[in-house]
This record gives sequence, C-alpha cells and structure tokens, in this order.
Amino acid sequence: MALFGKKEVEQNEFSVLPNHIGIIMDGNGRWAKKRGLPRSAGHKAGANVFRKISKECERLGIKYVTFYAFSTENWKRSKEEVDALMNLFMEYLLEAKSDVTQAGNSRIKFIGEREGLSQELLNLMDEAEEETGSHTGTTVYLAVNYGGRQEIVSAVNKLLKDGKTEITEKDISENIYTTPECDLIIRPSGEQRLSNFLLWQAAYSEFWYSDVLWPDFKAENLHSALREFEKRNRRFGG
Ligand code: FPP
Repeated sequence: MALFGKKEVEQNEFSVLPNHIGIIMDGNGRWAKKRGLPRSAGHKAGANVFRKISKECERLGIKYVTFYAFSTENWKRSKEEVDALMNLFMEYLLEAKSDVTQAGNSRIKFIGEREGLSQELLNLMDEAEEETGSHTGTTVYLAVNYGGRQEIVSAVNKLLKDGKTEITEKDISENIYTTPECDLIIRPSGEQRLSNFLLWQAAYSEFWYSDVLWPDFKAENLHSALREFEKRNRRFGG
C-alpha cells in the first residue's frame, strides 16, 4: 500500500509497537496564525492529519490510538471556534458513513461526556460506533468533551451506583473509557504537558514531544516517535 510513498515503513521494521498510543493534536491555532488564517483553518488542516495518522496507525497494526479532539475546557473558546470544531467532527462522521473506506477496518469509539454535545452530533457518533463496531483493526478512540479527571470521577460514580463501597485500582481500570494503559503519548507543537489527557492511563506512559505543529505532522513523525519508543527501557517502577 503506497499511502506514504517512498518513506513507507514496513510493520516489521519496528521490533516493538506500543499497544495504545495517545495523541494530543496541538498547534492548530499557531499553524493558522503563521499563515494569517482563522484558527478554524488550522483545525481543518488538523482534521485531515487526523485522518492520515489514524490510517497509518491501522496500517502499522497499532491496536489502540486515542486522539484528543476536544477537552472539557475547550468550551471556553469562542463560539465560532467551538462551532467550527463540532462541524469538523460531523463532517468526518458523515464522510465515514457515506464512504466506509474512510474508517477502513478501524473501530471508532467516542470517549468523554455526552452532555453538552448536540443531538445531531450524538446521533452521528452513535451511528459511527455501531457501523464500525465489528471492525477488527485499530480501535480509534476520539476524545470529545473529554477530561482525564472527569473520566476517573465518572468511573468512581458508576462503581458507587453499582453498590461498591470500597474501590480497587482494578475496578477503576475496568470502568474508565479506554484500555487501561497508554504506552506512548505524543504531543507535537513544543508543549510538554499532559493537559488533563488520559490521566489514569498515563501512569507508565512514555512521552514523545516535538516542535512540529499538528497540521504539519506527517507519518514520518509518527515513525520517529515509534523508533524512539523502541529504544526506551520501560521498568514500570521495578
Ligand atoms: C489544540 O490546538 C487542538 C484542539 C483544541 C482541537 C483539535 C481538533 C482537531 C485537530 C480536529 C479533529 C477532527 C476530527 C475529525 C477528529 P490549539 O488550537 O490549541 O493550537 P494552539 O495551541 O496553536 O493555539
């Protein structure tokens, strides 16, 4: 498959692949500003990179990848920017619905609070989850209206509702939104913070940072992160 032309990397070029990658798609605003464009243009370019990178994860055989698309704090942004982001999510889901190749063999799952999202978006999210539910490739978690603290609180509340009076780590691991460990967190754009992303899952994550802005992020950047991950000596506190 010639998705990325000459620079294509064969799966077996990596001796070890992370089971779960988390990606903070940062730098869209700065990318747009540098070009004298509105922030929404940066998000649009970022959405196209999301499409390419999720497909590349699938091609490489990554089991789980979580993309941070909209945080519980992002509501503080202008209505114009929030609307532009919501429209991009809907655009992608409509595409995925009319053209199954858009999602490939990936399973799309949304993580985060449903409250606050429009019914139109919720319906498309449900349809995408349902339509891709039987796919056997990468599980692509899209974090929309997501916060790591909110995720843990919601898991605890669910356990309390189920009648639990004492809560173990295993209980929380089984009730958060994603698979419980995240092996590698990728954050472009030069920032070196977690920003309330996958707090529980990041307990033993390896971090990879880069100055590249998300709309400029290429498959090669993902490969660099994976190459770096291969070299890390993970001890899990031992
Ligand atoms: C952070 O960069 C990015 C976001 C708040 C939005 C990320 C969302 C997308 C890339 C769209 C995803 C689309 C689909 C279909 C999943 P920033 O805007 O804060 O950048 P800045 O720090 O340079 O201002």
